[in-house]
Amino acid sequence: MNRFVDSMIKIVYDINVYRENLKRIIQKNDVVVELGSHVGNSTRIIAELAPDGKIIAIDNSPESLSHMEMVEKDYPNVKFIPGDARLHQTLEKVFKKIKKCDMLSVDLGGGYHPDTTFKVYFIWSSTLKPEKTIIRNRGLLDFVLTAETQEDIKSHKGWLESSGDAGIPPRLKEFKHWSSKIYQEGLNDREKNKD
Ligand SMILES: C[S@@+](CC[C@H](N)C(=O)[O-])C[C@H]1O[C@@H](n2cnc3c(N)ncnc32)[C@H](O)[C@@H]1O
Repeated sequence: MNRFVDSMIKIVYDINVYRENLKRIIQKNDVVVELGSHVGNSTRIIAELAPDGKIIAIDNSPESLSHMEMVEKDYPNVKFIPGDARLHQTLEKVFKKIKKCDMLSVDLGGGYHPDTTFKVYFIWSSTLKPEKTIIRNRGLLDFVLTAETQEDIKSHKGWLESSGDAGIPPRLKEFKHWSSKIYQEGLNDREKNKD
């Protein structure tokens, strides 16, 4: 059963389910931001799926560098940015590079801390406002399937619309150097660079 058919936010754990979903969701013109590209195995899949789009891949592992360099050579639509997804500098770099985000993919590791994964998702998605999102994380999947809800607050895109811009925090301890100024600067840059 596909539980996610009506939602633009998908949470998965199994890497194969993750990749099957990428294949189902990504369109050929999509601008995709991939957090946690590792050595680029899924990046290659995404690059094939979006030949007329753009893929910005992020990873903070030294192991990624040489592999992602090869991916960039093989796929001109891929740009790798080495960096920590928890840091504002990384988000700022990406935000200034793209005019829209069709798809945000967050895979910091299936067993990675769900709290950090959610925080990364919340901040990146609030800023980039993706049409669709896929998150690979066991803890978040468990939480969503285990929890029961009694009120109806639901978003229709890949970010939490009910929170508006609240996810773009002026000050957040864990994301130390975040400043709302960056967001405004990014918007200004994007306006200036529009075709
Ligand atoms: C399971 S691997 C990703 C696999 C990849 N998505 C795939 O499908 O082949 C998780 C990756 O997340 C990266 N990662 C974990 N925390 C990160 C962070 N804070 N910033 C950037 N990358 C991070 C790790 O370096 C690792 O390469």
